[in-house]
Amino acid sequence: MTKDQSNHENSKTNEEREDSLTNRQGHPVTNNQNMRTVGNRGPATLENYDFIEKISHFDRERVPERVVHARGAGAHGYFEAYGTAGNEHVSKYTRAKLFQEKGKRTPVFVRFSSVIHGGHSPETLRDPRGFAVKFYTEDGNWDLVGNNLKIFFIRDAIKFPDMIHAFKPDPVTNIQDSERFFDFCCNSPETFHMVTFVYSPWGIPANYRMMQGSGVNTYKWVNSDGEGVLVKYHWEPKQGIKNLTQKEAEEIQAKNFNHATQDLYEAIERGDYPEWELLVQVMSDNEHPELDFDPLDDTKLWPEDQFPWLPVGKMVLDRNPEDYFTEVEQAAFGTGVLVDGLDFSDDKMLQGRTFSYSDTQRYRVGANYLQLPINAPKKRVATNQSGGQMQYKVDRAPNQNPHINYEPSILGGLKEAKQYGKEHTPKVEGNLVRESIDRQSNTKQAGETYRRFEQWEKDELISNLVGDLSKCDQRIQDKMVALAEEADEEYGRLLREGLAHASKEGSSQKPLGNKNGNQATKTAVDKGH
Ligand code: HEM
Repeated sequence: MTKDQSNHENSKTNEEREDSLTNRQGHPVTNNQNMRTVGNRGPATLENYDFIEKISHFDRERVPERVVHARGAGAHGYFEAYGTAGNEHVSKYTRAKLFQEKGKRTPVFVRFSSVIHGGHSPETLRDPRGFAVKFYTEDGNWDLVGNNLKIFFIRDAIKFPDMIHAFKPDPVTNIQDSERFFDFCCNSPETFHMVTFVYSPWGIPANYRMMQGSGVNTYKWVNSDGEGVLVKYHWEPKQGIKNLTQKEAEEIQAKNFNHATQDLYEAIERGDYPEWELLVQVMSDNEHPELDFDPLDDTKLWPEDQFPWLPVGKMVLDRNPEDYFTEVEQAAFGTGVLVDGLDFSDDKMLQGRTFSYSDTQRYRVGANYLQLPINAPKKRVATNQSGGQMQYKVDRAPNQNPHINYEPSILGGLKEAKQYGKEHTPKVEGNLVRESIDRQSNTKQAGETYRRFEQWEKDELISNLVGDLSKCDQRIQDKMVALAEEADEEYGRLLREGLAHASKEGSSQKPLGNKNGNQATKTAVDKGH
């Protein structure tokens, strides 16, 4: 049999088999090893449809990565409501349907991530971790786009692009540089509380299963009377919390830079389903002048003794994605994605974020990203928004006149939905200004957080800060030490002493209090934030 005959035979049998290779037009691919050429030594021809389609699709296999949180892992599962918020029925605070009934389950998709580096960067880097949850509720989707830590670096969205530029690699060398990080932070004192967390072991969670989550920003819950309360969300892992020392992280990274993705995937495969409890903190909806911080300031914790954590449900992750790109890479979360009974607060970060997410997703995934199964609500969608790249269906109501793609109309188009509860209509009044909030209190909670740390956490914090700060301009070091001193006498003193010692020894020497001895070496610039 000649080579050509053998291919021909294969193609006949292949066509009958379910696993036959086809191209994207559904045509059988009878020879996937050789392109079509003039003679078996070439040249190739331009009408090589299968080859050109295959290569040109490959050329487009990547979409732009997320500008932040590019490295991530995802899983499916469900949320189960308790029907209560602490001792009260949850309806006192919110009419959101997913919370009302004890035992009610809502499907979820979760994506965990690190923030600063690219899509295949090590999962051991010092960095906050993203914790984004998409609830496919009966009222449409709700996204709770949070982090592992409960606070954030900045409190005004206009600073976010500068902050991310400073934290990402240098635009010239493409190397992350702690001097740029601390330059931004020491000149933005509101970052100091978050810096205290991130440079402690809390900046390197052991994996995704053993970390907390938090919505960070202040949202609102609205009840059936239209009354709103301020609310913060927290996820508490049933697996316990585990963070790593710098040395432990480096040991893992030397062998495996995908350890967190692997840990999540393997736990779910073996049926060891990770679980988190969802808890909320509630505050009446006003400025709370009695507090020394503003409830809309996301650099602050709400003290637990004054605002207890109220359990409202639990989440279980029990299914791995079938395809990483389809589900995890194309997943699109946003803070604007709320359902009836949930609302925004005036938190300026939250308001800035709410524009940013869907804006970037129209660019990153495409105008019709909400038609992709991972992003589409698991309920009826009927909208007059249509067209744009990659639309593959029209989201029409079954009885809708297909000619009427506008509203209002008496000719059979879509009608406005009725309001389910009383609308929440907060009164807003004031001059348009560009001003920071009054109660800034930039370092007080950082001191409280420092004092709550265990001794090994304090040691790590000082050691990690000295390691990275000792390579910075003296003016930056001085400003960071001043912030630490303002936060806590001991914190400031240990940092000052550590830096003085490191400078005496030279930057390649082991700084005082550094158990690992490798913080002040050149490699530490790549540690990540
Ligand atoms: C991802 C913007 C603050 C958590 C993103 C993305 C953008 C963005 C553009 C990429 C989204 C995508 O490509 O799908 C911003 C802006 C912020 C801000 C402008 C401040 C003004 C925060 C804060 C948190 C947070 C405070 C934590 C509560 C996340 C998470 C993701 C993300 C978890 C990844 C979502 C995913 O897994 O797809 N952010 N962000 N961001 N952000 Fe933010």
